Amino acid sequence: MNPRRPVRRGRLPLSLRRDPVAWERQRPTWREARPAVIAQALKRAQARPSGNWFVVGATRDVRADRPLARTIAGREIVVWRDAAGRLVAGPGVCPHLGAPLRDSPVRCGTLVCHWHGLALSGGPFAGWEPLPAYDDGVLAWVRLDDVGGEPPLDAPVVPARPATARAVSAVYVGVGVCEPEDVVANRLDPWHGAWFHPYSFVDLTVVDSPAAAGRSGARTEAGADADAEAEDEAAATREDGFVVDVSFRVAGRLVVPVRAVFTAPEPRTVVMHITEGEGKGSVVETHATPLGVDDRGRPRTAVVEAVVAASERPGFAVARRMQPLLRPLVRAAAGRLWRDDLAYAERRWQLRSTGRFPG
Ligand code: FES
Ligand SMILES: [Fe+2]
Repeated sequence: MNPRRPVRRGRLPLSLRRDPVAWERQRPTWREARPAVIAQALKRAQARPSGNWFVVGATRDVRADRPLARTIAGREIVVWRDAAGRLVAGPGVCPHLGAPLRDSPVRCGTLVCHWHGLALSGGPFAGWEPLPAYDDGVLAWVRLDDVGGEPPLDAPVVPARPATARAVSAVYVGVGVCEPEDVVANRLDPWHGAWFHPYSFVDLTVVDSPAAAGRSGARTEAGADADAEAEDEAAATREDGFVVDVSFRVAGRLVVPVRAVFTAPEPRTVVMHITEGEGKGSVVETHATPLGVDDRGRPRTAVVEAVVAASERPGFAVARRMQPLLRPLVRAAAGRLWRDDLAYAERRWQLRSTGRFPG
């Protein structure tokens, strides 16, 4: 979108680009995309509390008949629903002789080890200790205090979202050879959008970004009362955003112009809120979960991206009913972007880990 032309909400969400600019003729963004601005935004994100919560995956992927499994920071984790429907989590190693519980079935809320039948109902049993789990309605989280090393929080820092009853949600999961900070740094560089993903984004302008210095971040002095701290945190998060005007390319010259704000509410999450234009109130949450190292000693990180889309348009009720059809499309679109963005994150890690990163 051209910043001189404000977003207009017409009857239809689509706009026709009047004077399309060829890819190579668009305005270079590298001067504005100052490495120090991105680095400082990343540093502030890393200073915010996560309470040691890690995203495991999509709530929808926690099925009735088998656990959702993920190795997080080298620890095998399984997540399932107990007989009461509550999300439970714990180590994915059977306490008897070590069977991989990721391959064990769930029967009536009980995880039954497929080697000798040890049954876990979600409570401590035979040396198996549950881990704190949290279901936010879209994503499943687990708390790993020994991995996070921060003071624990009762619940994860879940971004504000449109009410799920009125939204379409889809979750994409990808894995790259990099660390969570490389994924977060990619998302805190909105300037690459129209250059690196011209098939999805055009006419991108970053209309506001946090200064490289001068904003000290979200943390208050130890001892400040909790309410004041929460208020400061909220204010800092509001301020500490990248505001981007961009058009999503639908086909050819047909685009959907929006204004989006990127913030990092915790060290491993970047949220894009659509604040103007079609889908106002929708969010795209990118969560980075460290998986551990591969057989060459390189770090692997999962990207769990939740799209929670809302719209006031009457046709959106139909879209909601079509969610099972829409989800694969949303995941495919995210997958295409993340093929490139993981290449960016992996490149960043390669350069960092060999002392060649220019930023
Ligand atoms: S290894 Fe699980 S019951 Fe024996
Ligand atoms: Fe990107």
